[in-house]
Amino acid sequence: MEREPFDPADFERLRDSVPWISQVYAHVSLASTNEEAARLARDGAPDGTVVVADYQTAGRGRLDRSWTAEPGTSLLVSWIARPAITRDDFPLLTLATAAAAAEAIERESGVTVDVKWPNDLLARGRKIAGILAEAVNGAAVIGLGLNVRQSEFPDEIAATATSLLRERSRPVGRARLLGVILNAFEPFAAAPRSALESYRARCDTIGKEVRVERPDEEPLTGRALRVADDGSLIVEAGGMETAVAAGDIVHLRV
Ligand code: BTN
Repeated sequence: MEREPFDPADFERLRDSVPWISQVYAHVSLASTNEEAARLARDGAPDGTVVVADYQTAGRGRLDRSWTAEPGTSLLVSWIARPAITRDDFPLLTLATAAAAAEAIERESGVTVDVKWPNDLLARGRKIAGILAEAVNGAAVIGLGLNVRQSEFPDEIAATATSLLRERSRPVGRARLLGVILNAFEPFAAAPRSALESYRARCDTIGKEVRVERPDEEPLTGRALRVADDGSLIVEAGGMETAVAAGDIVHLRV
């Protein structure tokens, strides 16, 4: 496996090329970029604060899962957004990030990227990136983990994960990818509904038979019909349409 050297200066220079970025903290190792960005957000860090790490000792995924990656293999980043949007629109920031990252990664790498509702990026049906968005004292902390140079994965995810390297990406550095992702994210942040067209066009979940695992509720099995304007997934099950605001989706078959 060929790892990418990590030079904090490559990320710090993004302040010069991405107008929205206000400050960049680039760390060789951190517990979790989301945790650090949340700490900064609680201390009042501004919109456009970016935290990057080459390695995380306690990286977090959704639903209390862990997120692990060897140094030099992944883009591990969190940023603080303080858009002037209503609380109701906050969930749309996850979808806006997915659309922005998918567009940017595809453009830079040449790898076709789909989204799995709500927050997974897929290449040929395998997970290539995940997003963890959290509300912290009125700010959004948005974390992204993108598999870049892994040539193999641990047994538990070997059948379902992929990386840009495995998808035969064009060579592209992590700092450049991040700059393009954040440039694509910025216009969506202020108007996250404007990301829905791009999100829907890439959403691999629609039309599929799905099992929805929901917090504190029985799983729901049915057909995913559409993504609603508030970002929820509309699932038809037992002749009824249910709007799912949060949950984990298993694609059962096409
Ligand atoms: C998921 O798919 O469950 C979301 C994964 C999000 C992982 C990223 S890696 C950078 C940032 N810091 C974290 O601790 N988590 C997110």
